[in-house]
Amino acid sequence: MTLLPMQWIPVARDAEVGPRPVAVDAGGTPLVVLRPVADGPPVVFADRCPHRLVPLSAASGVDGRLRCAYHGWEFDGSGACVALPSQDGHVPPRADLPLGPRVRVSDGTVYISADDLAATAADPADLLTNEHPGLRRAWHPVALGSELPCRVTLLGDEYDVHTGDDGILHVTPEPFAVTERWGLIWVAPEEPLTELFPDADGDDAAYVGAWLPPVRTPASAGVVADNFLDVAHFPFVHARTFGAAEEKLVPRYDISVEPDGCRSVQDQWFDNPEDPGVAAGLRPLKQRRRATYVYRAPFQLLLRLEELDAGAVKTILFFAQPETLTSTRIYTKMLLHGIGGVPDPSAEVVRREVAFEEAVLAEDLALQQAMRLPGLPLRLRDELHVRADLLGVTLRRTLAAFVGFAP
Ligand code: FES
Ligand SMILES: [Fe+2]
Repeated sequence: MTLLPMQWIPVARDAEVGPRPVAVDAGGTPLVVLRPVADGPPVVFADRCPHRLVPLSAASGVDGRLRCAYHGWEFDGSGACVALPSQDGHVPPRADLPLGPRVRVSDGTVYISADDLAATAADPADLLTNEHPGLRRAWHPVALGSELPCRVTLLGDEYDVHTGDDGILHVTPEPFAVTERWGLIWVAPEEPLTELFPDADGDDAAYVGAWLPPVRTPASAGVVADNFLDVAHFPFVHARTFGAAEEKLVPRYDISVEPDGCRSVQDQWFDNPEDPGVAAGLRPLKQRRRATYVYRAPFQLLLRLEELDAGAVKTILFFAQPETLTSTRIYTKMLLHGIGGVPDPSAEVVRREVAFEEAVLAEDLALQQAMRLPGLPLRLRDELHVRADLLGVTLRRTLAAFVGFAP
């Protein structure tokens, strides 16, 4: 029997490998290479965090550890998960990075073993993409009313939308139904399985409402919805806006399952420097906030933030339009009440709140630019869910049932 010589694939120049992870490609397999210990050997892993499969090349290198950009899980040079901030100390065994390929350095070049590449797990196959046929039986936002007439893209198809002389909305080619709600035009290509959610419509009169300019992201609508329901990423993705003062530990929370969706009420502590009562010495900086998340399939979301001590209420309506396999359009509307101590916030306060929310959304979009999967995994075992992910797990279960996915 003849033993074949081991095949080695060059992936990087040794001198260029430092503590920061760098993406490299080995025959189509995305990998990440870094040197956890100065003067130590380089290490290579699959370019994928086991939690939400976000590329580890977006991670930072901190004290010899990789810190994932999304939720701050940390991995040491052997790939062991050594910190999982949302649950403070409890690290499930599957949180470790799978063993990477063998590495060899020769003549200043870093090589990996080709034989080990096959063992590097492939990306999951069962994804909810923006063109999944199961999404046709649903209401989707396609434009702000103020943008008509216009041509829109939904689930890979194009439609012309305009208001006729009769004042009626016309969509060509004709879908099953069209309607206007919250100032948004909604289209259902086929008979929808579920309705638009009832919240925050009649409330409008008591609130000052303002739309953010719609934005696009290459991430799928499912991933965008998952991001909106996720609390554990605040301290890491939103460190520059509001995240630095947020607790990393996510307390246990409950969910009530509703038809084609869910609702979750979470009480949180937060710093409220905006409250005039803080400057006046009437209330402490650290205050209580009640966050109510409402989700309705496939991509209708709402977050109501009640400042329990200061009395202000901020509701964020958030809707995603699955356009194509590489594009999702996001619509965000804010309903504001009692901000700054007055029932109806002034135009200046509204402008400031909208600008702040745009900055927050830009932080999410920056991370989504780095994501590679063209959809949301529908099979729960393809990711690693932890306690803080209860909303994300419910989202995946709801969407899987909605589009008829049988694991
Ligand atoms: S910590 Fe990596 S995706 Fe959550
Ligand atoms: Fe976010």
